[in-house]
Amino acid sequence: MRATAEAHPNIALIKYWGKLDRPGNLPAVGSLSITLDTLRSRTVLEFDPGLDRDRVDVAGETEGRAAERVAACLRDFRDRSGWPHYARVESGGNFPLAAGLASSASGFAALVVAADAAAGTALPLADLTRLAGAASGSAARSLHGGFVRLEAPGDGREEIEIRQLAEPGDWPLEIVVAVTDAGAKPVGSTEAMRASAATSPYYERWVREQPADLDDAEAAVRDRDFGRLAELAEFNCLKMHALTLTSRPAVIYWKPATLACIHRVRQLRADGLAAFFTVDAGPQVKAVCLPHAADAVAGALAEVPGVREILRCGLGAGARVLERE
Ligand code: PMV
Repeated sequence: MRATAEAHPNIALIKYWGKLDRPGNLPAVGSLSITLDTLRSRTVLEFDPGLDRDRVDVAGETEGRAAERVAACLRDFRDRSGWPHYARVESGGNFPLAAGLASSASGFAALVVAADAAAGTALPLADLTRLAGAASGSAARSLHGGFVRLEAPGDGREEIEIRQLAEPGDWPLEIVVAVTDAGAKPVGSTEAMRASAATSPYYERWVREQPADLDDAEAAVRDRDFGRLAELAEFNCLKMHALTLTSRPAVIYWKPATLACIHRVRQLRADGLAAFFTVDAGPQVKAVCLPHAADAVAGALAEVPGVREILRCGLGAGARVLERE
């Protein structure tokens, strides 16, 4: 009744931003992401019939928001699977938490896979998807490796669905992360999404246009068309940030170094390097590159004033069980 699972964060090239106005943490829009390698979350989970509640340790914290979210996900797991026992959970990662590097995505993907393995419930992918998605909207995408598309409810779908578009090795991209600030973000994505939906004048149009962006990006992945994916991903990222910037009150995730990195990547592309930027709900800039461009992009971003660290990743695999007893 014990399992260890590992999952990698993913970054969205077509962003999830906005929730449906009903229970279950359901996204209002679909998204398209790439799963990374190098960065990882690892969860050790043991069900113990002797426990009278879940005991959770997230990166050394046994109380607080992160531990509560893990306990809520375990409750959800028990409700869905009928499994009766409480668990002892230890979860950690090798990168900064809550800094726009999608630690919740890899954390919850590892958690649901570990719970399922430890209990021996062998839930179908659709159930793991819903459990991970209910815990963190982007977590379901980390169940798969490579390129992943997530469909929001709608068009006759009641729940989210994920689909792998390509394996990591099918189109090996490299990602250079410029860390400009490793502290926790000032406003969490849930709160900021609510503010965008309620107050940004651009929100409805964002939701309306998302299916077209998703289809275009899927076609770019299918055709391995880097230039087209670059243009679309930057467009979609800036639209998402336009929502946060035009919310009342505004949420500004960027630091001066974030913007400096954006300009640098655009300049590098204008100079002929195959790279584009994307930024999530935090100040880090992720430059997605064709492999031959990655060293030059990493070198250039390391020199941007305010960049504290450069992380390098390729595309990685989906969540998996490492050990089971
Ligand atoms: O999964 P959440 O609730 O942390 O939201 C993720 C939102 C973005 O990272 C900004 C976009 C995305 O699709 O990952």
